[in-house]
Amino acid sequence: QHFQPAFQPLKGKKVVVSAGPTREKVDPVRFLTNFSSGKMGYAMAEAARDLGAEVVLVSGPTNLAKPAGMKVLDVESAQQMFEAIWAEYDVADIVIKTAAVADYRPKNVYGQKMKKQPGEAVLELERTTDILATLGAHKKHQLLIGFAAETDDVENYGQQKLQKKNADYIVANDITEAGSGFGTDTNSVTLIGYDYKKSFPHLPKKELAYRLLTTIAEREEFK
Ligand code: CTP
Ligand code: CA
Repeated sequence: QHFQPAFQPLKGKKVVVSAGPTREKVDPVRFLTNFSSGKMGYAMAEAARDLGAEVVLVSGPTNLAKPAGMKVLDVESAQQMFEAIWAEYDVADIVIKTAAVADYRPKNVYGQKMKKQPGEAVLELERTTDILATLGAHKKHQLLIGFAAETDDVENYGQQKLQKKNADYIVANDITEAGSGFGTDTNSVTLIGYDYKKSFPHLPKKELAYRLLTTIAEREEFK
């Protein structure tokens, strides 16, 4: 209903979107992951495409159909996601980090299936690369848009992430709110920039993605 082919503020822009969860292998039969469905990230990629951008979608494992009209790179781990985005970074104009990247991965990945032992077990974890923070630390011309799914103090945490990761915008959402966050088709978010804040109504993710990108395009004076 909002698709206006004539309105293409992202025409000529190369947009890299990351979406979905990551999978961090424990052994050949197990992995660590999270509840991300990829819906918001895919909606962002489709909205960017509809607004005229050339889109690369770097996707963790999801059950979603491959969107038409863009390059899709399938990845599993945080490290693979990082490498795929990094390879596109120099030529990207906008990077949108909707993905729910694992913060930790198993320190040792076992080649054989781990067998249970008597009593308790401990899985040792190490930190993954913070992709958005690394992009922020090496930012040149790129516009960086991060996401933050929080369960409390949403705007405050969003603001902190904006600064810590040197992003240009953070889309913050309260995943405890009914119909918001992981797996749902709708979301309600606050867009946070430097000295800037805009709350959006509860909307379908596709509609919200379109509104977020048109709001940013207008603020950045993309034509
Ligand atoms: N992010 C990333 N690489 C990571 C972790 C997060 O690029 N290893 C990105 C996400 O894609 C998102 C933003 O950073 O755009 C915020 O993610 P979030 O998990 O909310 O923030 P963290 O910095 O990981 O903080 P915490 O999970 O402790 O709240
Ligand atoms: Ca995190």
